[in-house]
Amino acid sequence: EAQFRTAGLLTGRRVLVTSGPTFEALDPVRFLGNRSSGRQGHAIAAALAAAGAETTLVTGPVARPDPAGVTTLHVESAEEMLSACREALPVEVAVCAAAVSDWRPAQVAEQKLKKGSAAAPDIALVPNPDILAELAQPGPHRPRLVIGFAAETEKLVEHARAKLAKKGCDWILANDVSPATGTFGGDETTIHLIDATASESWTRMRKQAVAERLVQRIGRFFSGPPM
Ligand code: CTP
Ligand code: CA
Repeated sequence: EAQFRTAGLLTGRRVLVTSGPTFEALDPVRFLGNRSSGRQGHAIAAALAAAGAETTLVTGPVARPDPAGVTTLHVESAEEMLSACREALPVEVAVCAAAVSDWRPAQVAEQKLKKGSAAAPDIALVPNPDILAELAQPGPHRPRLVIGFAAETEKLVEHARAKLAKKGCDWILANDVSPATGTFGGDETTIHLIDATASESWTRMRKQAVAERLVQRIGRFFSGPPM
């Protein structure tokens, strides 16, 4: 496996990373969530910090320790994740690796929902804020580099390009999350790094190596052409 030399590459740069799932409350004991492990986002935060960056990690609930040398903020819902991200600004680089729930229950019951004798409840959903799109919006606090992930199960590069345009971010790391690949919760992934004009495929590698290669690319962005 390739070794990446990144020590000191991002010294003093302020960066923000999101990681993990979000949990969207239904009632005091239930939530809608997903299977994101936080492995990739946490590895990226750790690699950025190891490269000298002043790193803030905003993470949903994960069974994973806070990375060394990283300011880690713990949140549950997408709305909490968005406010924590806003408080971390300004940054020069934002990497959105969190698996943010696209929707949340329209209502959060104050008391635990009871079975009673009635039919199963209908759960109405409302859309969550898009944290990546918000961070990518033009403005005085926009990071110079806004990076998202695209979790896709088909038409990887095509869907990722559409996502890049829709969200207004600078780079997308597209990864195949079809169940057969074992990417969700697993330790290896195949990445395509996509910007507005180019794309490059990385060989299948451990998420730790993805993090280090991304840090290299970010270092190169600050010292020369983007990719
Ligand atoms: N993302 C985000 N906030 C959301 C939804 C997604 O910040 N509410 C970010 C993710 O962290 C990721 C990127 O957007 O970096 C793409 O997430 P993905 O779920 O693949 O894209 P969506 O736009 O939600 O589209 P869909 O789920 O329909 O494919
Ligand atoms: Ca989504």
